[in-house]
Amino acid sequence: MSKTILVTGGAGYVGSHVCKALAAAGYTPVSFDNLSNGHEWAVKWGPLARGDVLDGNALDDAISTYRPEAVMHFAALIEVGESVKNPGNFYRINVAGTLNVLEAMIRAGVNAFVFSSTCAVHGDVGDVVITEDSPIAPISPYAKTKAVVESILADFSIAHGLNAVALRYFNASGADPDGALGEAHDPESHLIPIACQAALGQRDGMAIFGDDYPTPDGTCVRDYVHVTDLADAHVMAWERLMTRKENTFEVFNLGGGVGASVREVLDAVKVVSGVDFPVEQHPRRAGDAPKLVADIAKARAQLGWKPQRSSLENIVKTAWDWHRVNTR
Ligand code: UFG
Repeated sequence: MSKTILVTGGAGYVGSHVCKALAAAGYTPVSFDNLSNGHEWAVKWGPLARGDVLDGNALDDAISTYRPEAVMHFAALIEVGESVKNPGNFYRINVAGTLNVLEAMIRAGVNAFVFSSTCAVHGDVGDVVITEDSPIAPISPYAKTKAVVESILADFSIAHGLNAVALRYFNASGADPDGALGEAHDPESHLIPIACQAALGQRDGMAIFGDDYPTPDGTCVRDYVHVTDLADAHVMAWERLMTRKENTFEVFNLGGGVGASVREVLDAVKVVSGVDFPVEQHPRRAGDAPKLVADIAKARAQLGWKPQRSSLENIVKTAWDWHRVNTR
């Protein structure tokens, strides 16, 4: 019988791509999702257990029904700007919700946990490449919730023998190369989907937030990593966890290892789409760090992971292909 993994947020963008990768590797992903931001159409590789991470009974039911060997936890609020306006929701869902998941696991004797974290736990690092040991100094409530959960995982691994990995994503982007899944947030705040919408004429144009940063072309530099590469890393993290003794908590950066500026990304979308959509210059968006680029040596060495699909061209092409077909 194949091993079952409970994937909270399995109907969301990264979670659904991870479900596909888990199924391809021979596991059965069970998506635990309340469908508040996720999509039922994205649950294709295993059952959907509809439920909320704030509902401990629903978590207990899902765990006793499906008897997972591990939990991968994606269910969370993600929009940085929204977290500044409504921090309570973020602490409730991202921190209290995660505690509920962990406590349900402990009640059921499940001790392997893969956590969806973010490079934003480091805040503004300046002009350096970020390693796992760079200082933790989150700026937004969103990033603070992720940093708090990482601390909880370290404490739970000591107190309860939890075996956990936190994967710190840089900019998750792109879409399933087979066209089965893509990025569909509502409202959308991410650069590449917005640019695809602009190229499709679904919006009048778009804005570059800030061109006076201390970067080569003045716009923010980010490390875009293909969502399918991220998905593969989750399978590798789980396979590593299976070989570990109890009491480990590890952190890995997942990025493409190179930076691209907002202007470079928009140029790539214009080339791939063949549409020269209007772009306006706007002031800086609050909370944006000038540059966030990953050192991915640890994931390469210890997980055996390497980003194979994360060239900017491939990220933009897969995103464009998905938007073109699915969001008209
Ligand atoms: N940007 C624009 N115009 C837009 C949208 C975005 O210029 O219409 C810029 C942003 O200001 C930023 C860059 O494009 O400089 C990337 O912005 P995204 O919103 O796509 O991504 P972020 O880097 O802000 O956020 C992502 C994830 C977060 C995570 C963060 C870590 O969405 O969940 O990376 O840096 F916390």
